[in-house]
Amino acid sequence: MGLAGIRDGLRRFAADYAHLPLYHRIASAAADDELVAAILTHARPGQARAVLLLAAIHDLMLSRPDLPAARWYSSVVGAPNVPTTGDPWPEIRAAVLDHREQLEQVVATRNTQTNEVNRAAYLAPLLADVAADLPDRDLVLVELGCSAGLLLALDRYAVQLTDPSGRTVTYGDPASPVRCAGRLTADSAPLGSAQLPRVRAHRGIDADPPSLRDPSAVRWLEACLWPDQPARVERFAAAARLVADDPPVVVTGDLVDGLPQLLKDATDGLDPEQLHVVVFSSWALTYVERARRPELVTTMAEFASRSGIPVSWATAEPAGAAPGMPLVGGWSADDSGTVLGVRAWREGAERPPLVWGTCHPHGEWIRRWQPARPAHPTRSPPDGPADSG
Ligand SMILES: C[S@@+](CC[C@H](N)C(=O)[O-])C[C@H]1O[C@@H](n2cnc3c(N)ncnc32)[C@H](O)[C@@H]1O
Repeated sequence: MGLAGIRDGLRRFAADYAHLPLYHRIASAAADDELVAAILTHARPGQARAVLLLAAIHDLMLSRPDLPAARWYSSVVGAPNVPTTGDPWPEIRAAVLDHREQLEQVVATRNTQTNEVNRAAYLAPLLADVAADLPDRDLVLVELGCSAGLLLALDRYAVQLTDPSGRTVTYGDPASPVRCAGRLTADSAPLGSAQLPRVRAHRGIDADPPSLRDPSAVRWLEACLWPDQPARVERFAAAARLVADDPPVVVTGDLVDGLPQLLKDATDGLDPEQLHVVVFSSWALTYVERARRPELVTTMAEFASRSGIPVSWATAEPAGAAPGMPLVGGWSADDSGTVLGVRAWREGAERPPLVWGTCHPHGEWIRRWQPARPAHPTRSPPDGPADSG
């Protein structure tokens, strides 16, 4: 992309995120600053996006908290210590130009990547409900497109959901240093049991999994979050610290091609009579060509039939992204957020796919449908990666 396109992109970002003071200021100033905007000309084809430059600058501040500009970043100095008056741009511009070559190298080699810990706010009740179908069996949790694997550790977080009357239910470990939160909408059906059965194995697959034991990889994941949203950054940092001690097994590979081996490895040596394999995916399937996605269904059906182990697939994806799980038309407007669906294979046959509910892409709100509704395709959204920011 040429410099003019890059500057337009920065301007668009600034307009879209006028409510985020720091990132709005950096993006609008960088759009008018040829030297700073030009750093993005080093990005790989298709990657010259405002968020990549913002992440590269954030990464610099996280690695160099001694820079004067770092005081504008809540992730470095803590939200209460960020100045509430003054202009951050002169100090940030100086730091950027002093480290230009380093930033060019970062934008040339990195992609923005997410592992949104608060997605546990919808995954915990969804997975608890899926597991409640077979309460006497241990879970084998398998995540497709798991990034660093932070969501595979959701049973180690305190996930608090509040209903419209103010009553709070906690999933996972109430004493956990990682606090996730969501609210049930006024029209949500009540949640089921808050108990997650014992998890015997946590396995994930990702095309490019950052290692939680590599400080620069963890810093990059943190840098891709926005310092104007300090709660997200703090939650991420707490989860990365907690899970690094005992990280889930995450393999590098394509989630479609790698699923057969992943299922085999996850269950090898365990008693099939005691297991319930629960596969889940959240905001990952849009990265996979639509025509390849049904192969996941075939793999799960074949595994369930061959092994005799019940398999469930919980999906948290944009409407229409999960095979067999498009959004049913006629629901309210905010249903276009994330659709929570379940497919399940028991004793050689598949049950009808169900839409369990809908939610905000980062778990801020959750609406459970009761009873869960059969999924009837009504529309097919366009293909291509979608990320929720
Ligand atoms: C938007 S992130 C979501 C990560 C995580 N599921 C979450 O909700 O925080 C999408 C992830 O899917 C991974 N991914 C994309 N295409 C993939 C593929 N074909 N096979 C495996 N992983 C893939 C990316 O590397 C990235 O980590």
